[in-house]
Amino acid sequence: MSNIFVVKKKINNFNKKIIEVSGDKSLSIRWVLLASLAKGKSKCFNLLNSEDVKASINAIKKLGIKVKIKKNFCEINGKGLNGYNYKKGIVINARNSGTLGRLILGLLVNTNTEIKIIGDGSLSKRDFIRIADPLKKFGAKLKLTKNKSLPLNIIGTKNLKPIRYHENKGSAQCKSSVIFAALRTAGTTIIKAKKSRNHTELLCRYLKLPITISKKKKYDLIKVKKAKKIKPFNYNIPSDISSAAFFIVLACLTNNSSLTIKNVNINPTRTGIIVILKKMGAKIVFKNKKFYKGELVADIFVRSTKNLKSINCPVRYNSSSIDEFLLIFLVAAKAKGVSFFRNLGELNQKESPRLKWGSKILNLMGIKNDLTNNSIKIFGNPRINIKKKIIIKNYLQDHRIFMSSVVAALSFGGEWHIHNKNSVNTSFPHFLKTLKNLQK
Ligand code: S3P
Repeated sequence: MSNIFVVKKKINNFNKKIIEVSGDKSLSIRWVLLASLAKGKSKCFNLLNSEDVKASINAIKKLGIKVKIKKNFCEINGKGLNGYNYKKGIVINARNSGTLGRLILGLLVNTNTEIKIIGDGSLSKRDFIRIADPLKKFGAKLKLTKNKSLPLNIIGTKNLKPIRYHENKGSAQCKSSVIFAALRTAGTTIIKAKKSRNHTELLCRYLKLPITISKKKKYDLIKVKKAKKIKPFNYNIPSDISSAAFFIVLACLTNNSSLTIKNVNINPTRTGIIVILKKMGAKIVFKNKKFYKGELVADIFVRSTKNLKSINCPVRYNSSSIDEFLLIFLVAAKAKGVSFFRNLGELNQKESPRLKWGSKILNLMGIKNDLTNNSIKIFGNPRINIKKKIIIKNYLQDHRIFMSSVVAALSFGGEWHIHNKNSVNTSFPHFLKTLKNLQK
């Protein structure tokens, strides 16, 4: 079957549709890793069934942890905080997942044999110095390849020392990895972290692990002590707002349409896209809000928006919408006026250089934009109506580029040939099926 997805016409309007999207990727990977350290059986429902999560399951299996995958749930039989079996020559393949590649290193700071971490072509281009540096301070040894990325080798130590760490990129992956290492280290590790998604902290709090968090205006001060044990825990993963975002934007951009997306994680450290789109005039409402094990969950109702306004996007929303900018740029493409997004250098550190790709897609669509290495100005055109053929390829199989391009094609017209359809399996395997259901 061809791996190219072709779109030749805009989507028909849809109304009062109710959909569900896949389980949250960040929570799924964290559940797998923490359950592997618990003593006993933990069960998870609605675990995201994607390549990144499968890679996480394979990683803990390599470390000697038993995993059962049943029709409706996944069961992990953890062997406790010191239960990993460090056989000689273990190679962990994080594949496309920066979250797995970085988080697991925090759990490996006390290995007694060398473990190799490898990844796919995209992950092997990404920066691992950002996590190797703090983990070395704990006392672990990390050897990186010349380009400061994967493959890397880690060998831990039994004499871990607590550290003081200033996380200044807003990277939840680095923050979480250091929290994991600190849970294995006697003494108090102190982390001053720029605001970023806080699922690790919430899970640690739910599990009653020794962590305290004081929220300051611009950063969080996190103190972590060595954990004595982790109790097994069951979890029902809510849907991923980063997957819901494709449909939120599609509903915003399609005339006379409306949509409800059920049971989405609306943790405020993830909802930047909603705040930004509402400022641009989008009609989005949270319904049936409730807390689930520390995470805020709701149904998201979206209606199409006729008069979208441009935005001078405050940088304080960057971290909470970091995975959604390709979509936000599409909304800016249709908004009246010039939108400006800055301090976005981190976007070029993702599965592909996404800031550059955002600009490239806009250029292909005929939308004027000014790109620098950390900002983009987008000159919106409320009457955008594409007539030409657009080919999207060679983008390091970045799942979010594929899905955002599909949204652009269905919203703005033209004939799009979008390569690497399989990339959806990284985070949202049912993306195309969900889309089809919308059109029924
Ligand atoms: C993630 C953190 C973010 C995000 C990624 C998932 C996580 O990366 O882009 O998709 O689950 O911790 P950074 O930590 O590099 O910002």
